[in-house]
Formats: sequence, C-alpha cells, structure tokens
Amino acid sequence: MITLKRISSINLILSIITFIREIKKESNVGRQFTIRGWVHRLRKQKEKSFILIRDEKGDVVQTVFQSEQVSNITLESSIQVTGILSVDKRAPEGGYELQGKNIEIFNISENFPIGEFQSLDLLLTKRHLAIRTRKLISILKIKSTILKYARLFFDNLAWTEVQCPTIVKGSIEGGSTLFPINYFDEKAYLSQSAQLYLEAYIFSLGPVWTISPSFRAEKSRTVRHLAEFLHLEAEVPWTSMDDLLNIQENLVTFIINNLKKERTDEFVYLNRNISDLNITPPFPRLEYSDVIDDLRKKDFKIEEDGKKRYLHYGDDLNIESERMLTQQYSTPIFVVGYPLSIKPFYVKSDIHDENRSLSADMLAPHGFGEITSGGLREDDLAKLKERIRKEGLDQNTYDWYLDLRRYGSVIHGGFGLGIERFLRWLINSEDIKETVGFPRTMSRISP
Ligand code: 4AD
Repeated sequence: MITLKRISSINLILSIITFIREIKKESNVGRQFTIRGWVHRLRKQKEKSFILIRDEKGDVVQTVFQSEQVSNITLESSIQVTGILSVDKRAPEGGYELQGKNIEIFNISENFPIGEFQSLDLLLTKRHLAIRTRKLISILKIKSTILKYARLFFDNLAWTEVQCPTIVKGSIEGGSTLFPINYFDEKAYLSQSAQLYLEAYIFSLGPVWTISPSFRAEKSRTVRHLAEFLHLEAEVPWTSMDDLLNIQENLVTFIINNLKKERTDEFVYLNRNISDLNITPPFPRLEYSDVIDDLRKKDFKIEEDGKKRYLHYGDDLNIESERMLTQQYSTPIFVVGYPLSIKPFYVKSDIHDENRSLSADMLAPHGFGEITSGGLREDDLAKLKERIRKEGLDQNTYDWYLDLRRYGSVIHGGFGLGIERFLRWLINSEDIKETVGFPRTMSRISP
C-alpha cells in the first residue's frame, strides 16, 4: 500500500499545530504545544479562566489562562493556543491541561444557542450546530468506523461494491412508503432498496454489495424509523438460507469486534458497556410460527382498532412484539420462515410449504429488534409474474426485472442491513434520530 504524504502547503500550516490526541502523554509534561480549535466549554473565574478546546479531530483538552487575557472569548470561538502541558487530576478528559501562554483568535463566536443540557427538539432544530456536541461526535465516529469495517469485510471476501440508482420507477417494499418525485415529464420515486439492481449485477459480477440511502415515507413516528436511512445491501448467486445467515452474523460480529477495539474511547464517553456486545456466531434461529406461539404463551397482545388481541399466524412482528421477543436475549437472533403473505413479491416460497417464505430477519437483543432483512428471491419467471400481478403492481415497470428470470435465472438471495438501526443498538440509544447527522423524518426536513 502506498502511504500518502501530506501536501506541502498543509504541512506548513500544520507544522506548528499538534493534534490534542498526540499531546496527552506523561512524557509530554513540561513541553510546549500549539493547538487550534473551538471553545467547547468555558469557565471564567475572577483570576483564572478554564477553556476546554475541541480540535478538528473532536478531541478536547483544558487550557488555563489569566482571566484578563481571555475576557472576550466566548463559547465556540475559534482560537489557537500555545501552552505548556501539565498534569492536574481535576482537568476533565484525562487529567492533563495546557498552561496557556499565548492565544490567537480566528473568530469570536456569537452567543452559541446550545448549552450542556438541551431538549431533543432544540438539538434537532439546531442540528448543524448540535453535531459539535461530544455525544454526536462520538456517535458519528462510531458510524464512520462501522462503514470502514463493513467495506473491509466485503473486501476480504472479494465481493464487488456496486452503485445503484436512487431515482426509480417502481416500489419494492410496498407502495405505502414510496416518495413520489417529478422526473421531467414522468412520475418516479426515491428508491426504497437497491435490491432489484443488485440482483441484476450478480450475473456479471457474482456476489455484490452496496451502501446507499434508502427512502421510506414512514407515516408513523417511531423511535426506529427514518424517512432516509443508510442501507447496506448484498446479493449472492447460488446461495442458500444457511449461507445468507452465516454471512450476516459474520458481518455483524466482524464490525462489532473491530469497533470495540478501535472506538473504545467513544463507547466509554457514551457510557456504553461494551461487554454487552460480546457476541459469537451462530446466532439462535427461531421459526416464525414458534415465535408466535411463544409470544401467545407469554400472554403478549397487540392493539388493533382500540382492542387488545393475541398474535395470529400471518401477523407481522411489530416493534412491540420484537421488543418482547428480544428482551430475553443478549445476542442477536434470526427469525426465519415468515408467512409469504406478509413478505414482498420477490421473496421465494418454500417448496415444502407454499405459504412459508424463505426469508429471515436478524433482530438485535435487549428489545432493539429488526436490523437486517433478507432471504432467497423467487427465481421462477411464471411465479414471479403471478406475484407481481397479485400485488397489483404494473407489469411494465418490472419487465426489466423479469428479464433476469428470462436470461439464465439462478437461485440467489441477499439481505439489507439498516446502518442506523444497527448503530442504535450498538450505542444503546432510545431514538434512531441520534444516529444520523441530519435526520429526515415525517416532521423534519431541515436543516
Ligand atoms: O426490511 P427491509 O424493508 O428490506 C429490504 O429493503 C430488502 N429489499 C433488503 C434486501 O434484501 N436487499 O429493510 C431492510 C433493513 C431493515 O431490516 C432495517 O434495518 C432497515 O433496512 N430499515 C430502516 N431503517 C430505518 N428507518 C426505516 N424506515 C427503515 N426501513 C427499513
């Protein structure tokens, strides 16, 4: 691998600047450093002022100045500070602080609207500023590292990464959550899933994967639904249900094991006990019909038309049923064999039981619920045509997709992992909106 050298002009500027993460070491005590960043927190006393500086890597260190030197400094002002490193156990985030000698100002910030304790609503309205909070910095770093290891996982398998359109002509996961758009003179939609296109790619590239935004016009406000989410999807020719489950559990375990090593500090900051994330494949596989029986035995009921009732075979598992089911587990589980009637048109049926689908969802433990969904695809042209007809979908829109069954159809399957759902579980967050820089929901499209 070729290592890149920093471009020289950046080098010049950086030469006097040290990143905070490189400073906080016993061996550096007594040495002088220059750092630059933003005023993350500020405590002005009569004689001394304590400025917590956040640099461009999101790390923070405390600096101490004589109050008269920094009288005009405000929260989020951008500054450059030179000082001598010392140890003070009382200093936040590691017990080191810089005894300030010199301060230069890039910009004095206006009154910053976000303080230490803020309502979720304000944090969402001022999201462009809230992403400077330590909590969101940690979450966004973990998210970035999830993507890094997802890519590495597929790279190690030599699966090809591909790109699929996000403006499409048809639905894949049901018409009720489609976002219509005007596409010149035609009606089009924002893509709900890249799956149909991934299915096309396997004929020339074999196993493929992609990461792209998916869009769902989710009309209900829930803590696990976004209108735009990041979707990691994979598709494989000549596969089996067993293979698909193995891939998913290995992917999730690989990402988690690497995250625990690389993002320890962020998990500590988020107060997330990573020993809760000790998981090893294989994850338990539960048959859908057994799950329904089990939930009935537990006296679990859902609400329908203002009345409570037991689950029946044929009901989809909603947030509450998945919460109840996964509460008792400390590892993810798979639910397999959902009824074909509650699955989209492309899902393959079991030859031993036409009503049972060859599909599986992975549910995260401790109540978090579904994070992946996938299975085998209907590869028979006649059956697929019939399913499209039965669902009332326009045959013309799917004609190109039917070509995949006309020209060399093979058994194949895949899955989709919702990155934010996954992250929500990993950081133990109540609300999925916390896992996105700029969340899109029914009630929010700005900033
Ligand atoms: O279960 P879904 O709808 O399945 C599909 O889209 C398949 N076509 C994927 C495939 O086989 N290639 O969505 C897959 C995953 C869910 O398990 C969930 O993690 C996530 O996408 N997801 C959402 N995440 C956040 N907000 C929403 N509104 C989501 N809808 C689905």
